[in-house]
Amino acid sequence: MTEHVIVDKSGGVLTLTLNRPDKKNALTGEMYAALGDAIDASGDDPSVRCILIQANGDMFTAGNDLGAFAAVNSGETPAGERRGGSALIMALARAKTPIVAAVNGRAVGVGTTMLLHCDLVFLAEDALLTTPFVNLALVPEAASSMLLPTRIGHARAFSMFVLGEAVDARKAEAWGIANAVVPAAELRARARAAADAIAAKPPASVAITKALMRDAQAYLDRIQEEGGHFTNQLKSPEAREAFAAFREKRAPDFGKVS
Ligand code: COA
Repeated sequence: MTEHVIVDKSGGVLTLTLNRPDKKNALTGEMYAALGDAIDASGDDPSVRCILIQANGDMFTAGNDLGAFAAVNSGETPAGERRGGSALIMALARAKTPIVAAVNGRAVGVGTTMLLHCDLVFLAEDALLTTPFVNLALVPEAASSMLLPTRIGHARAFSMFVLGEAVDARKAEAWGIANAVVPAAELRARARAAADAIAAKPPASVAITKALMRDAQAYLDRIQEEGGHFTNQLKSPEAREAFAAFREKRAPDFGKVS
C-alpha cells in the first residue's frame, strides 16, 4: 500500500485517486502496483461495477518517475528487478470492469496511454496529453503503438510519439481519445455521474459488451513486445543523456551520444 494512491469504494464505483501532487503524480513502482492490484481485484469483486481514475493536484500525472528510470539506466536498479508500469498496464489491458477517467492538466506518457484502455474519458479544459517517449530515447508502451494509431491515425500518432506533439483537450475530443471536455470545476462530478450510470446497468451485459469491443490478448502480446524494446532503450546511452538532461534542467544533446 502507498499513500500516493487513494482507493475508495462507494455505490458500486471503485475510485482510484493519484495522490502525489508535489511530484506531479509521477508514478512509482508502488503506485503502479497499488493501481494494478486494485484493478485486478475488481474483476473478482461483484460489488465493483465501474472503476474511476482521477488525480489530486494540478495535473493528472507527469508519467513514470524519471528517477526510477534513471536508476535502471545507471544499474542502481537491475532491469529484472524494476517494479515498473507493467503491473498497471497489464491490469488495464485485461480489465473486465469498465473504467472511466477524469483528467485535469497534463497527462504525460503512461498518463495518456492508459486512457486508451479506459472506456469513457472526460477531460478538463486545461488537459494536455503528451507521449514523449522518443524525447526520452524510449519507445511507446501499454500497447499504445497499436492503440494510438488505430484510434487517431498513423500521422497524428507518429507526431505525438516522435515529435512529442502535445494534444490539448479539444483536439483530443475531436480525435476520439475523449468523450467530452468539461470545465475543471465540473470534471469530477461529470465523471462520477458517468461511472454511476454504468454501475446501474446490468453488469453481465456491460462486461460482455466491453470484452467484445476489445482484443485483450492482442494488447497483452503487444505490451510484451514493446516491453523488450523499452527495457533495452532504458539502459541505452541515449536514455542516459535524456535522464541527465531532465535532472540538470537542460535540453538533451543526442548529437554527442555514440
Ligand atoms: N519523475 C520524477 N519527478 C518528477 C516528474 C517525473 N516524471 N515530473 C515532475 N517531477 C518532479 C520534479 O522533479 C519536481 O520535483 P522537485 O520539486 O523536487 O524539484 C516536481 O515534480 C515539480 O515538477 P516541475 O517540473 O517543477 O513542475 P512543472 O509544472 O514546471 O512541470 C512537467 C511539469 C510535467 C511539464 C515537468 O515536470 C516534466 O516535464 N516532467 C517529466 C515528464 C516526463 O518526461 N515523464 C516521463 C514520461 S515517459
